[in-house]
Amino acid sequence: MNIIANQSLQHLNSFGFSARAAHYVQVTNDEQLLEALDTAEKKQWPIFLLGGGSNLVLTQNIAGLVIHQINQHTNYQEQTDGTTHVVANAGKPWHDLVLETLDRRLAGLENLSLIPGNTGAAPVQNIGAYGVELVNRLHSVRAYHLPSKQWLTLSPNQCAFSYRDSVFKQNPNDYVITQVTLALNENTPAVLTYAALESALQTHDLSAVDNVARAKLISDTVIRIRQSKLPDPKQLGNAGSFFKNPVVSAAHAKNLRQTYPKLVSYPQADGRVKLAAGWMIDALGFRGHEANGVGVHTEQALVLVNHGGGDGAALMALANRIIEQVQANFSVKLEIEPVII
Ligand code: EPU
Repeated sequence: MNIIANQSLQHLNSFGFSARAAHYVQVTNDEQLLEALDTAEKKQWPIFLLGGGSNLVLTQNIAGLVIHQINQHTNYQEQTDGTTHVVANAGKPWHDLVLETLDRRLAGLENLSLIPGNTGAAPVQNIGAYGVELVNRLHSVRAYHLPSKQWLTLSPNQCAFSYRDSVFKQNPNDYVITQVTLALNENTPAVLTYAALESALQTHDLSAVDNVARAKLISDTVIRIRQSKLPDPKQLGNAGSFFKNPVVSAAHAKNLRQTYPKLVSYPQADGRVKLAAGWMIDALGFRGHEANGVGVHTEQALVLVNHGGGDGAALMALANRIIEQVQANFSVKLEIEPVII
């Protein structure tokens, strides 16, 4: 275990903001993780768990010890019922896992193609896109529980998932997720409930191919849609959607629609209505806006970007302006999706 002092984090966060970790360590297995945690405890360093850095806004240096899990190994366990348990270590880049499972003729993750970040972070915000959330494909999560110093295997129920939320997000310093196990199958049914995905697939005859070929086609299409709207963090720093889509009462949504008839919204199972935050930010004229090196993406107003010279403080100033204006015009409080340091 090699603890590095004063490590730059600029290449380890997808906004590319410059910040440093007082101490930084890469770990590849349980033993090294426990050793790192033990060292932090003895030295009284607060710990910070770093994944792919793609859901993180650094506005300052990180004191204490940054722990970076880098184990990318994946293990495939065939079950007697034809399902395969895919046991992926936390350091595996999520999109690599999606492509690898499809190559092994396992369907189910195709709608979640090209989501940045590592597999260990996927349960934290219950990643979701195009009608599928991690919870729909999850078998279990293996984690070290810091308060009790115990290894746990959590079922999806125990993870308390909801939209972009989980027990891990609610208790940010309690769990170190080391492995994620997915339950996939050659026959996992395709999910085509998301209008933009369905219409992009209309030129294909999906009934002419087998389920895995269909899943690959869906994956290719999701990749194409994402590439057209979401900037590649290697070229333009960003953390995907910067705000959650807010959920409001049906009465509130109805009211808003009288002023904004084109407001995009999705009825929820509980009778409430999810509003497209990107649409509201766009309607306020923020799309393409730039100030102090940061801005709002030209193709998707829900995505904030670093044009190169920006920093976390400038980004937060912009985010707060957006929050204020959405509140003033739509009476809705936007919630920030990434973790702010
Ligand atoms: N819209 C606009 N203008 C904009 C942006 C969006 O009018 O500038 C409209 C779109 O035309 C569309 C609606 O708003 O009618 C929703 O937009 P989109 O389909 O792009 O999806 P989203 O709601 O903005 C969510 C997730 C994404 C996920 C997509 C697809 C959240 C916070 N974001 O975005 O997740 O990929 O749906 O399922 O739920 C992420 O979390 O980082 C992320 C990228």
